[in-house]
Amino acid sequence: MKHIFNKGKDSTKPTLLLLHGTGGNELDLLPIAGRIDDEASVLSVRGNVLENGMPRFFRRLAEGVFDEEDLIFRTKELYEFLDDSASKYDFNRENMIAIGYSNGANIAASLLFHYQNALKGAILHHPMVPRKGIVLPDLSGKSVFIAAGKNDPICSPMESTELQSLFEKANAKVEIHWENRGHQLTVDEVEAAAHWYRRVF
Ligand code: MLT
Repeated sequence: MKHIFNKGKDSTKPTLLLLHGTGGNELDLLPIAGRIDDEASVLSVRGNVLENGMPRFFRRLAEGVFDEEDLIFRTKELYEFLDDSASKYDFNRENMIAIGYSNGANIAASLLFHYQNALKGAILHHPMVPRKGIVLPDLSGKSVFIAAGKNDPICSPMESTELQSLFEKANAKVEIHWENRGHQLTVDEVEAAAHWYRRVF
């Protein structure tokens, strides 16, 4: 997968996995990684799917309607890419925190839904429930921060709280942060994520 790896100053810190939104690329979230932890290594990945020229992490049939088969295939592809990258760049595979926005948050959530040890934690900006009706792995020891918008037309508040409770039922520790805004990624929610990260990791 097309990506950037920046080695951090402190190898004991988590590696931050950056996953952009639809139409973005691996450069988009680099400034956010710096605000979360400027000493951590960063692996920023570009989605392998193109929708009218816009990179994404998996196909969708319509807005908010995911191509489930492709979601499963792309989640596995990303999972294997993370394993390969840990060997190639020599970072601790057990200590990876995803930071995803929108479609990137959805594939990060999908990693947690499908693989017990894909991530140690995740900061999910405006995520949805990636798949309904499946049993999640035991996510004990995993920490998840969800940033949601009360007026988000793409990820409804109900869907955000449903995702929170699915993670909690799988034993993950979840914190949800609300903005009185829509789908946009705000400076305030990044600050809230940074506070959470400093408390938890
Ligand atoms: C998705 O397709 O993952 C969600 O609808 C969010 C987005 O617009 O990318």
